[in-house]
Amino acid sequence: MRILSINFALLSTFLFAISLANSDGSNIQTLVQCLISHSQPSHPISTAIYTRNNSSYLSVLDSYIRNLRFNTSTTPKPLLIVTALHESHIKASIICAQMQGIEMKIRSGGHDYEGLSYVAHVPFFVLDMFNLQSIDINIEEETAWVQAGATLGELYYRISQKSKTHGFPAGVCPTVGVGGHFTGGGYGNMMRKYGLSADNIIDAQLIDVDGRLLNRTTMEEDLFWAIRGGGAASFGVILAYKIKLVRVPKIVTVFKISRTIEQNALDIVLQWQDVAPYKLDHDLFIRLTMSVVNGSTTIENKTIQATFRALFLGDSQRLLSIMNESLPKLGVQQSDCHEMSWVESVLFYTDFPIGTPVDALLSRTPQSSYITHLKRKSDYVKEPIPREGLEGIWKKMIEIDATALTFNPYGGRMAEIPEHEIPFPHRAGNLYKIQYATNWNQGGDEVANHYLDLTRELHAYMTPFVSKFPREAFLNYRDIDLGINHQDKRSYFEGMRYGIKYFKDNFYRLVQIKTKVDPHNFFRNEQSIPTLPKF
Ligand SMILES: Cc1cc2nc3c(=O)[nH]c(=O)nc-3n(C[C@H](O)[C@H](O)[C@H](O)COP(=O)(O)OP(=O)(O)OC[C@H]3O[C@@H](n4cnc5c(N)ncnc54)[C@H](O)[C@@H]3O)c2cc1C
Ligand SMILES: *[C@@H]1O[C@H](CO)[C@@H](O)[C@H](O)[C@H]1NC(C)=O
Ligand SMILES: *[C@@H]1O[C@H](CO)[C@@H](O)[C@H](O)[C@H]1NC(C)=O
Ligand SMILES: *[C@@H]1O[C@H](CO)[C@@H](O)[C@H](O)[C@H]1NC(C)=O
Ligand SMILES: *[C@@H]1O[C@H](CO)[C@@H](O)[C@H](O)[C@H]1NC(C)=O
Ligand SMILES: *[C@@H]1O[C@H](CO)[C@@H](O)[C@H](O)[C@H]1NC(C)=O
Ligand SMILES: *[C@@H]1O[C@H](CO)[C@@H](O)[C@H](O)[C@H]1NC(C)=O
Ligand SMILES: *[C@@H]1O[C@H](CO)[C@@H](O)[C@H](O)[C@H]1NC(C)=O
Repeated sequence: MRILSINFALLSTFLFAISLANSDGSNIQTLVQCLISHSQPSHPISTAIYTRNNSSYLSVLDSYIRNLRFNTSTTPKPLLIVTALHESHIKASIICAQMQGIEMKIRSGGHDYEGLSYVAHVPFFVLDMFNLQSIDINIEEETAWVQAGATLGELYYRISQKSKTHGFPAGVCPTVGVGGHFTGGGYGNMMRKYGLSADNIIDAQLIDVDGRLLNRTTMEEDLFWAIRGGGAASFGVILAYKIKLVRVPKIVTVFKISRTIEQNALDIVLQWQDVAPYKLDHDLFIRLTMSVVNGSTTIENKTIQATFRALFLGDSQRLLSIMNESLPKLGVQQSDCHEMSWVESVLFYTDFPIGTPVDALLSRTPQSSYITHLKRKSDYVKEPIPREGLEGIWKKMIEIDATALTFNPYGGRMAEIPEHEIPFPHRAGNLYKIQYATNWNQGGDEVANHYLDLTRELHAYMTPFVSKFPREAFLNYRDIDLGINHQDKRSYFEGMRYGIKYFKDNFYRLVQIKTKVDPHNFFRNEQSIPTLPKF
């Protein structure tokens, strides 16, 4: 009986594989034909289609894979890639995907931590936005139109070419794509002063399920609400966002200071926790990263190093007086402080050596330290972690010796914006967000599972110290452990599992909007907003 069922399983896998191979070929042909017949003669789509037999197919696919875990020969691959060159190519992709019943993944910068923008376990193709990267800055109006395929680095650079006193609050890593980042919230080191990227979006161009190009005036206000933090991949394809630029001083100050346990890190971290979120000036953001150092030596030599990385929107003198008053235990000296332009601070913050030319922001190749196999998770902290708590966490980190924790302080503008203003709900009451970061350099499922388990172990250990009911999480720190809406039963209730963590009760409004604008759930992925169940 047992042998029989195993054979049956093998046989059906075999038959499934054959049928997939056959249907793939004809699927590709029909899809290509459909795309061509739905494109405009003035903007031919044929030069934007990369089928599997095209010698550039793999390199186009790899170019925007930002997690080596999903850059293997066994990672499921798209039937084809459409590297859209014009809005009509997006429209054709949306129409043909529905006609052929093929899943469509939307990719801009490819930084999704779980690869949801380019991996699926059903037949699918990728609508790749990287060619649509124009940036139009209007300094008089203090606004910009930015296309989804632009990177954060390009945006920062273009702003700096037009003005030394403007910037934009968005993420730290310059290769991140605007398309996924803004729509997932988007935070960076000006968050306490100006909020999230999504808080500073004032218009958008979106192509909906019927292939219509909408903007803020022509889309429902509800939909415009949803795509600012709710993840546009559930609602349509973002072609561009219009953003409100923010003011920055001509000179800002940065520092990066590290202290180990032996150098009094514990007292400093406790003082940081007390002041960084709510007591510090909104002009000052101090990110804290804790990692295991000397990890490769014997256990007795391992220690925790706490690194404090600051951006201050002002000069070093004022910074020193704030530090002296609020966080004297860190002992910041004038010699730790570096004054520079805001755009130079972007490079400093992401670990480029001081003096690196700012056009390094235009490179679409990540710095080598970012090219790894990785896993990320998130948490929110609402009560200070007591001294013994931190000691226990550090002991656990040393034991695990794989995962760094970054604490990003909230407060400031983040606490002023109401929880229902946009779908991103983590506002007043949060001290800081934790990022769990595990990187490794070796391929293979066994190694990956080892590191995934270690990351989950630390996350489980943290339970007493972090938010509860729900245990909140940040959408842009995509984490498939929070739940998956399975392909065969994308149910509302499965969607609730991760949806409530990412959006708290904004989830229910997102579901209403989703049901209205995409009732047949075309725009979907493993963690998209589900439609209301039909009874
Ligand atoms: C090295 C690194 C550093 C990071 N730093 C930060 C940080 O400082 N702050 C922060 O908030 N986050 C950060 N992140 C997370 C990052 O913001 C998210 O991964 C974000 O979604 C990436 O956007 P993307 O366009 O590059 O990714 P993609 O993988 O292309 O897209 C991510 C998601 O958005 C969807 N999507 C992409 N483009 C569109 C579009 N045009 N229309 C509709 N849906 C679309 C995709 O389908 C997918 O679901 C970082 C990630 C990495 C890898
Ligand atoms: C590649 O595949 C496409 C789609 O299946 C097909 O139209 C084309 O003829 C193939 N080209 C070559 C050179 O095999
Ligand atoms: C691959 O596809 C691109 C885009 O459609 C096309 O320009 C190129 O000629 C193709 N290469 C080959 C070898 O078919
Ligand atoms: C991804 O895999 C391809 C194929 O093995 C390889 O050529 C490429 O270098 C890999 N990318 C990175 C960043 O390692
Ligand atoms: C929005 O779209 C409408 C209709 O296409 C157009 O008239 C209007 O100018 C657009 N608004 C902006 C800001 O582009
Ligand atoms: C690592 O260990 C060596 C040798 O014990 C020591 O000199 C060094 O300071 C340690 N590094 C840190 C960051 O503690
Ligand atoms: C560990 O530290 C001790 C002293 O603190 C030193 O003597 C020893 O060499 C170190 N071991 C390693 C492997 O670095
Ligand atoms: C720091 O504060 C102390 C007392 O609060 C004061 O005496 C000292 O001058 C201050 N130092 C600086 C550099 O501001």
